[in-house]
Amino acid sequence: MASLFPFKFFTILALTSALLLSPSLAQTTCATVSPKYAPVVAAGYNAKVLMNGLKTPRGMLFDSQGNLLIVEQGGAGVRLVKLTDGDGTNVCVASSKQLIADSSLNHGIQLTGDGKTLFVSSETIVYSYTYDATAGTSIIPSGHATRTLLISKQNPDQILVQVGSNANIDSATTEASSGRSQARIFSINALTAGTSSVAYSTGTLFAWGLRNSIGWAEEPTTDIHMNNPGEELNYHGVLNDTKSPQFGANYGYPLCIAARDPTILPANTGIQIGTQFVYGTVGGTNTDDSCAPKQAPRLTFPAHTAPIDLKFTANGSALYVTFHGSWDRQPPDGYRLSRVDFKNGQPLQPANSTNPAINILTNADNTKCPNGCFRPSGLAWDSKNRLYMASDSTGEVFVISVMF
Ligand SMILES: *[C@@H]1O[C@H](CO)[C@@H](O)[C@H](O)[C@H]1NC(C)=O
Ligand SMILES: *[C@@H]1O[C@H](CO)[C@@H](O)[C@H](O)[C@H]1NC(C)=O
Ligand SMILES: *[C@@H]1O[C@H](CO)[C@@H](O)[C@H](O)[C@H]1NC(C)=O
Repeated sequence: MASLFPFKFFTILALTSALLLSPSLAQTTCATVSPKYAPVVAAGYNAKVLMNGLKTPRGMLFDSQGNLLIVEQGGAGVRLVKLTDGDGTNVCVASSKQLIADSSLNHGIQLTGDGKTLFVSSETIVYSYTYDATAGTSIIPSGHATRTLLISKQNPDQILVQVGSNANIDSATTEASSGRSQARIFSINALTAGTSSVAYSTGTLFAWGLRNSIGWAEEPTTDIHMNNPGEELNYHGVLNDTKSPQFGANYGYPLCIAARDPTILPANTGIQIGTQFVYGTVGGTNTDDSCAPKQAPRLTFPAHTAPIDLKFTANGSALYVTFHGSWDRQPPDGYRLSRVDFKNGQPLQPANSTNPAINILTNADNTKCPNGCFRPSGLAWDSKNRLYMASDSTGEVFVISVMF
């Protein structure tokens, strides 16, 4: 594929930004940007709009120079935003410009630990941008247009690439060889060494039976991985531990789905929140017992809330989750930023918890959603542990400070 901008260009911008972030600018008071829909903010938090006017902002990250990179799904590619920093949420946009012009990019963005290789993704291709050339991973096309990426901090040579289903019920994904509803891992060195692209099927199968696991996060203290398919929080063990029970495990989709409200299920004996049961026509001759060997979720969130990004605090005390929100549920649900508290690498709440998450930023009136709401998408932490949250429906990025 064509190299749209070599990585060299990116590096020059990053160096320039170091000058803009000089201490003399730390006193800056930002101009106020009004939120399109004012969020209701939980006690102990402050939130304000950092910038607006973006085209469907999704994945975000900070580079080593403190620049914010944003994938804009609305055709604008990757944007590089330089910031000036006062205290608390007093962060302002110093400049903002297009870094990669590629209208096919849609969600995933990751930077290697050494900051020298940027990975971004379209529906069918994962691209890497380096000093030298553009190499990539070719992916079997599917209907879910996002390709979530995660580079392991524990194992910096490993990148995880997720592919969703190509339909609501994608029967072919009962075979791992479908290349969909799964996550595979690749060696970054191997990917970037060659100039030719690498087929998705050559990656190591890490987890499958995951309908469309958009959010992936690595727990920072105890070396585990979490991901979030639809409304489940799944535990995936350790990326390089091929002997763990989770490695290569099937998580049930499309055969089994997790219960959220067992009381309304016709045959609910023994089914609790989080118990997997056989779903509809794909079930065939299977019974709920067929779901017992599948990996059950660690937490189950309300249906249709559509969690799409998750980021741990630096010490692993909590996982922040964006619930993008339902488009096919009445009354609407989701449309919020929530916090899942953790201890010793696992959620505090049990798997059958009715309240697995605490709300941090909510819309004032969910009945106005999805059209009259902000819809949380990407999350990123800056070096001062402030959380940045994109809202793709309103083209905004919020900066959120946590006051303890
Ligand atoms: C996984 O990687 C970590 C960090 O590099 C290492 O400490 C650990 O021993 C590895 N585990 C396995 C099972 O290879
Ligand atoms: C972890 O960090 C959070 C802030 O993100 C802080 O409130 C909490 O006290 C820290 N916990 C530990 C165990 O250090
Ligand atoms: C969750 O499971 C525990 C232990 O199995 C049980 O005591 C509790 O009632 C369950 N809670 C719900 C909400 O099902």
